[in-house]
Amino acid sequence: MSDPIPQSVAPDNGWTEVGASDEFPEGSGWPVAACGTTIAVIRFEGRLFGLHDLCTHGAAQLSSGWVEDGWVECPLHQGRFELATGKPLCEPVTDAVRCYDVQETDGRVWVRCRPGA
Ligand code: FES
Repeated sequence: MSDPIPQSVAPDNGWTEVGASDEFPEGSGWPVAACGTTIAVIRFEGRLFGLHDLCTHGAAQLSSGWVEDGWVECPLHQGRFELATGKPLCEPVTDAVRCYDVQETDGRVWVRCRPGA
């Protein structure tokens, strides 16, 4: 029998389990299915961030982007987004990318849609 789901990440509260913590190594992103879309879960300095996986400039996956100094760089035209807010940091990206809540609990990773997302 598996362990009970902690109340802080209960599905009733909008959380979806997307994998084990060790599937999300430092300095890289991984695409996961949650909230009816694909989300790039990215670990930077030990913390996990969730961004919509599709760049707001074109058809590129941010989960394949370069991660550094709190941003992810789109692999297609090198636009950058702030991990914590999704804000565009340099051209050619001008629109923010949607963010999602990510939480690690008991060695598992959970994603939740933010209100209005
Ligand atoms: Fe991402 Fe152009 S597709 S910067």
